[in-house]
Parts: sequence; C-alpha cells; structure tokens
Amino acid sequence: MAITILAIESSCDDTSAAVVRNGLVLSNIMASQEVHRKYGGVVPELASRAHQMHIVPVVDAALRAAGVSKAQLDAIAFTRGPGLIGSLMVGTSFAKAFALGLGIPLIDVHHLHAHVLAHFAEEVQPSFPFLCLIVSGGHTQIMLVRDYLDMEIIGQTLDDAAGEAFDKTGKMLGLGYPAGPLIDRHAREGTPRFNFPEPAIADLDFSFSGLKTAILYFLRKQLQQDATFLENNLNDLCASVQERIVSILVHKIALAADRYQIKQIAIAGGVAANSGLRDAIVREGARHGWSTFIPRMEYCTDNAAMIGITAHYKFLRGEFVGQDVAPVARWAM
Ligand code: KG4
Ligand code: ZN
Repeated sequence: MAITILAIESSCDDTSAAVVRNGLVLSNIMASQEVHRKYGGVVPELASRAHQMHIVPVVDAALRAAGVSKAQLDAIAFTRGPGLIGSLMVGTSFAKAFALGLGIPLIDVHHLHAHVLAHFAEEVQPSFPFLCLIVSGGHTQIMLVRDYLDMEIIGQTLDDAAGEAFDKTGKMLGLGYPAGPLIDRHAREGTPRFNFPEPAIADLDFSFSGLKTAILYFLRKQLQQDATFLENNLNDLCASVQERIVSILVHKIALAADRYQIKQIAIAGGVAANSGLRDAIVREGARHGWSTFIPRMEYCTDNAAMIGITAHYKFLRGEFVGQDVAPVARWAM
C-alpha cells in the first residue's frame, strides 16, 4: 500500500508544504518572507501573519506539483515545535482542520528530528548510527542518530546558535541581515589573520557569546586608533570570524566522532551552506576516514519535505495525535 502524506512546516519564517509518498519526496514548496529583512531579524508577529497569507497557496502548489489530489492523502503532518509559537499555531491549526475535513489521521513532528531525517530526501544516505551536526539561525546541536525514530542530543549550544553568531558578528562588522552569507562571501577574499579565542567549553557543548564579546572589544580598540580599520580590513575580519566559528564546530564534531567511534558524519541547517564549513568537514573527513553527508540547500534550510519523511516513519508505527494537540515553543527531544 502506498502511504501519501501532506506535510506542513511553519516553525519560523518560511511557510512550506510537501507531499511525501512512501518516504520519497514528490513535491517541496516554499514561500520565504522578505518582510523581516529591514528589521535585522525575524519579527514573530509579522511571521505569523505572513504564514496565514501563504499557507493555502503553498499547500495548493505542493499538491499540484506532486500530481496528488486531496482524496489520495493518507495523513496530514505538521511541525509541532520547537519554534515561534504564533508561527507554529498557523501550521498546526491548518493541519488539524485539513485532517478533520478529510477524515484522515494527524501526525505531529519534532522540528529537529526532521532536520536530521532531511538526509533521507537524498539518494546517497548515511547509515545508522551516524552523527548529525544541525547548524542554523535557531539551532546548534550534535545528534547521535541510532535509527529513524531513535536519536539523542549529545551536544548543544549554551548560548547563541551558530547562525546567530554569524549574523550578530556580521552586524558589528556593518553587514546587513542575514549576515552569514555575506561573511562567507567576504571571507573568500580575505585571510584569517586575526586570532579570536576559541572558548574552552567542556564536552560536546558549544558557546559563541565569548566570540561576540571578543570581536566587540577588538573592534572598539582598533577603531579608536584608526577610524578606517573596519573598511580596510573587512575581508580579513570576515575570514577570521568564519574560521573561528567553523573551528569551534569542527572540533566538537571530531570529538564526538572519536568518543562514539562513528565515521558517518552529516551536517544540516542553513549554516551548512557556509563554504568554510563545507570545506572543513570534507577536509577533516578525509583526515579521519569519515563518510560525510551534506544535503542540497533546499533540504538544509527549513522545509516540509523533512517533516513528511519523519511523518512517514511515525505513520508506520501508528503514532498519530488527536484534534486536541497544541503547538509547543520548546519541546525536549
Ligand atoms: O536553517 P535556516 O535557513 O533558518 C533557520 O534558522 O531555521 O538558517 C538561517 C541561518 C542564518 O543565521 C544565516 O545567516 C545562516 O543560516 N547562513 C549562513 C550562510 N547561509 C545561511 N551562515 C554562514 N554562511 C552561509 N553561507
Ligand atoms: Zn530549522
């Protein structure tokens, strides 16, 4: 029997819908929100309103692109959390109403769980057990993945997420939002000649707030001596910031690989687009004999395909939820 699932993702600022049949992605449609750019970050209230406007056309487009009718759907899946509560509310309410109207089951999905299973949207897939480094604007963690529905967070950030570290330091360097891709671009033209400290954090956890402070004081001092310091050294500053963020991430994943004796290493999330991180993971992988997995961008950033893939495995186990389900801003794994 074919299992066909419509999945909805609305945890942050992208509205996405996907159709997944037997774990294979038939369509994956995305509407991004430009309204936040001028505010230098996601404005939760504006995000929920934009989801409300996008959700019907995005679901419609996903069904059409997949060539699937509503009558052919076996279940509706949605991101229950973690995320912005107003944003989650839009996707959750839509999913509940749609499932009720069609008389089919409802499946709730944990957003981070889904980021990991996004690797199964690709042809070349990691095998169990593997380690997955999730790095985005909202998350930074290392997941030990034993099976589709059996995974554990073994390390995470104590303060900012990696994407936030890029965006906040980029702001100090006078770059627009989101600064991550801009730092990446400038870094390619620069040399990492400024040495920002790597924090001494125990075990497999991360911290990026010290880096932010170090850069703030460093810039303040340099600008007192030379008002043109920033514009004359922007490329090298970006290269130095990027190198430090990447080294923090790569050292921890190497430590985890060694501790758990796992050589299957995957990365996911928006920061996985960073050319410095991609190069470093491949380089370290060659040194340690890892197999490395980096999904296509559309499966790295928030997307509903990953929600649908996760829901497929929950469907097989009969893990459904009732109409009384509510979204959760924070949700332990
Ligand atoms: O996964 P994502 O699209 O959205 C969520 O946060 O869920 O990640 C967005 C983050 C932003 O912080 C952005 O600056 C960062 O990913 N990012 C990058 C690059 N492309 C996106 N950071 C560094 N280098 C990049 N090339
Ligand atoms: Zn995400």
